[in-house]
Amino acid sequence: MTLLAIESSCDETSAAIIQDGRILSNIISSQWVHQQFGGVVPELSARAHLRWITGITEACFTEAGITKHSLTAIAVTYGPGLMGPLLVGVNFAKSLAYSLDIPVIPVNHIESHLYANFLDGNHPGLPFIGLIVSGGHTLIVRVDEGFVYRVLGQTRDDAAGEAFDKIAKMLGLGYPGGPQVDKLAKTGNPHFVELPRPMIHSGDFDFSFSGLKTAVKIFLNSNKELASTHINDVCASVQDAITDVLVTKTKKAAIAHGIKDIVIAGGVSANSRLRSAFNELSEKQGYRIFLPPPVLSTDNAAMVGLLAELKSANQTLQPNLELSPVPNLVI
Ligand code: KG4
Ligand code: ZN
Repeated sequence: MTLLAIESSCDETSAAIIQDGRILSNIISSQWVHQQFGGVVPELSARAHLRWITGITEACFTEAGITKHSLTAIAVTYGPGLMGPLLVGVNFAKSLAYSLDIPVIPVNHIESHLYANFLDGNHPGLPFIGLIVSGGHTLIVRVDEGFVYRVLGQTRDDAAGEAFDKIAKMLGLGYPGGPQVDKLAKTGNPHFVELPRPMIHSGDFDFSFSGLKTAVKIFLNSNKELASTHINDVCASVQDAITDVLVTKTKKAAIAHGIKDIVIAGGVSANSRLRSAFNELSEKQGYRIFLPPPVLSTDNAAMVGLLAELKSANQTLQPNLELSPVPNLVI
């Protein structure tokens, strides 16, 4: 089976060729136009997707050494995401599929993040606990046989990536903020400022990150001089607080469900502190932790193709409505 996969839900234009579980090519173009605004501008994103999607797809065929005539199907992200950007990817996929007389496989973006971990033979077993942490979502799911998902908990306000981005903005760092906080935190003291761990003892699997944001803002406002000379320490303290909550809650979900396989996914799974904390959990407490290679943590088309291929093999081609009950687009 040879698939072309397209991802355009936010500010990455990406195309990939997947063949029998292998990534033949995966090209990701990040849109830097949003940096000056400190966040993604949907209309600019849609226009950038439109400008790049054909060239990126052509480059993908060249890199994979195949032509469009070898394709079996085209997989595309249908949502959740920004409507304009999604429309570009979906319409591109539909028209190319129509011209080649092959099917389109609609893929849920949140679901696909998990499958960045299904690259080689070392797959998680079922059931597994999934932690999906991105700029738009933070949730813990239980995944059972047949792509059956149960959402165990989710954020009640900001996503973890959004908290990274907004706190980075308060610190005068660029967008996206997560990678910048990660970089500066490497030389910082995580105990510099004691920050709250929101909902860490709440007894459920939900999250809340808006209070953490407020706590950082209050600290910065009342310690302007000190904070300006200790940005690395503030970054390390923020990163530690977010990591602490994510790891503690995921572990609690695994214990409650008696599951040892834990899959981490989404942009925030690229965070070095989060990765080391989960690796520690694996070494000390015997959990099998699956972390995607950093390049597949953030948005990319390879994960879309990997999931579509698995679903085709299992004849489960329906979009997953459990993870986003109101599909953004009906294909
Ligand atoms: O999955 P993703 O690429 O897009 C969405 O589906 O939202 O995630 C993007 C998010 C952004 O909030 C970004 O700041 C965060 O992932 N991120 C990170 C790191 N790399 C990306 N957060 C913390 N540390 C990182 N190294
Ligand atoms: Zn994403």
